[in-house]
Amino acid sequence: MCGIFAYLNYLSPKSRAEIIELLIRGLERLEYRGYDSAGIGIDAVDSGLTLVKQTGKVKCLRDKIEAQQDSLDFGRELDIHAGIAHTRWATHGVPSDINSHPQRSDEANEFIVVHNGIITNYKDVKQFLIQKGFKFESDTDTEIIAKLIKHLRDLHPTYSFRELVEQVIQQLEGAFALAFKSKYFPGELVVTRRGSPLLVGIKTKEKLASDHIPVLYSKDCPEKVDLQDHRSHVYELPHGLARTESTAEFLPLGDDREVEYFFASDASAIIEHTNRVLYLLDDDVASVDSEGILKIHRLKRSLEDSHAREITTLKMEIQQIMKGNFSSFMQKEIFEQPESVVNTMRGRINFDNETVVLGGIKEHLSEIRRCRRLLLIACGTSYHSTIATRQLLEELTELPVMVDLASDFLDRNTPIFRDDVCFFVSQSGETADTLLALRYCKQRGALIVGITNTVGSSICRESHCGVHINAGPEIGVASTKAYTSQMISLVMFALMMSEDRISSQPRRSEIIQGLRVLPDQIKEVLSLDSKIQEISRSVFEKKSLLVLGRGYNYATCLEGALKIKEITYMHSEGILAGELKHGPLALVDEGMPIIMICTRDNVFVKCMNALQQVTAREGRPILICNKGDEEPQKYASKVLEVPKTVDCLQGLLTVIPLQLLSYHVAVLKGCNVDCPRNLAKSVTVE
Ligand code: F6R
Repeated sequence: MCGIFAYLNYLSPKSRAEIIELLIRGLERLEYRGYDSAGIGIDAVDSGLTLVKQTGKVKCLRDKIEAQQDSLDFGRELDIHAGIAHTRWATHGVPSDINSHPQRSDEANEFIVVHNGIITNYKDVKQFLIQKGFKFESDTDTEIIAKLIKHLRDLHPTYSFRELVEQVIQQLEGAFALAFKSKYFPGELVVTRRGSPLLVGIKTKEKLASDHIPVLYSKDCPEKVDLQDHRSHVYELPHGLARTESTAEFLPLGDDREVEYFFASDASAIIEHTNRVLYLLDDDVASVDSEGILKIHRLKRSLEDSHAREITTLKMEIQQIMKGNFSSFMQKEIFEQPESVVNTMRGRINFDNETVVLGGIKEHLSEIRRCRRLLLIACGTSYHSTIATRQLLEELTELPVMVDLASDFLDRNTPIFRDDVCFFVSQSGETADTLLALRYCKQRGALIVGITNTVGSSICRESHCGVHINAGPEIGVASTKAYTSQMISLVMFALMMSEDRISSQPRRSEIIQGLRVLPDQIKEVLSLDSKIQEISRSVFEKKSLLVLGRGYNYATCLEGALKIKEITYMHSEGILAGELKHGPLALVDEGMPIIMICTRDNVFVKCMNALQQVTAREGRPILICNKGDEEPQKYASKVLEVPKTVDCLQGLLTVIPLQLLSYHVAVLKGCNVDCPRNLAKSVTVE
């Protein structure tokens, strides 16, 4: 959902061309978050600010900028410069140049802003500003932010840039990460966040004087004005200025004051420049002033606040986020699975003495064992990982296990109790629905367990405990390696919960030994790639594709169908084979492509029945079965044989042919594999 990037060089001379290149590269890294349009805002050649915006992908913006090299004065060297940039996934207003970010306060570009998130009270603020004489040019919610800050500056010309931003966010409801630039404050940047991610990278020649930035608090904080109040037009926002309580300053710099700051929605845009980062918390306002000093302010002191933000060192390598020899990130990520699953298990499973320790949960284990029930809440692929593991969790924990889609969970106002344990599974750790469900459960006193792939993400930080799935950065919008790592994390949790139960030992042992050989088995499945490519030629021109299975493979059907529809735009449905005769069988004829998963587990016989029902209606399914299993193959038009493993792990192997099939069909159809239309990697709006 939109990526924001901002850059400031202080006493670190760079040509305008280098600065613009830096902004565009930042956007390219964040493009997976949205690619409807892109834009940058930089200092104009003479004075004021220049905006360049373009509908389409970052490449289109790059082309537009290159065509304007002369007017943008590419050759000029600048000691201090601040620029902001944005790649958009449309929420309010169609993709168009005018709706692209940066959004501006007025034709003179006095203030410009880039935004990731949604402002829920934008209509009220817009109404208020229209009454004040503002004219709006876009359909975005973001434009109100640019205009509101101008309104405040017109009223209070002595406010600092940071103070103006603090006043603005007092009036905003919803989710945002924002970066501001103003012609009144050249060489300064202000960023802030609430509900959307934002981190700061710091690059200096000398070692930083401190690893902590103290948080400065403001006093006399003005209250939010009720803009719906019919008298609101008489208010002059704000009522009063919040002044900083402490005058302590953060000076990260040594004698050499040269510094570069990078602000981004996630680390992938920063890591190639610096691995020293700090994560901003909700309502932090970070500003770089005209002295090149980074400060973090908050309007209100909160009891939970740590009063300082730590500068941490990112472990991520730049190679991890490059495509390598693969044609797309998705393809790379599918082929990374033999390695990513090892990383998920590393240091957690001892295959010799068959113990499992999840360090992030172990302190809470006895509390979890005593709980009323386990709830697993997630969206999309992450939700499918909870379906894939529910049966094993029920078996090994002997607790009631509920799985829920986060959006539906919230819609139902589901009752939650203090002795519930709620798991929130999310690759990005930023999905708005999942995060809101987390907060809902936390408020009601439940224990919150986060299962995420993104260290420092909102879900990570707001959980009481959790598991980092360690799959490595997932850039392709379609989730692949995160799914298998999420499943393994939940399987490891089930194993840890049943450690002390003697009756469970044979079962635990077979699962742990199954996990030991899993990476090699995944490699074996990946070697089916060219066969799958061949099969994809026979289905890519069809309108629809059904994926049938049951038991542990039902989640594979749902996940396979989701992969197919999201990256190939072909209709696809994952169907529980047990439901076939209750409706879906009517779809079956000789022309309907069907994939059937039929592996040797306790529902094998039932799957064989479904297979025969399909062939009796002239259906000739593509079969995914266990290696060497001839019985179901008699009924299939094409066969993909996967190694046999323990029933509860089989889904880790049956899902891979479907990931590969969706990839090949998308390539054959000429679809953009990594950036499917209308989708974004990180869905930070409800
Ligand atoms: C599908 C896909 C989405 C995500 C969903 C949740 O390939 O990627 O369905 O799984 O948006 O995202 P996270 O896991 O980041 O919470």
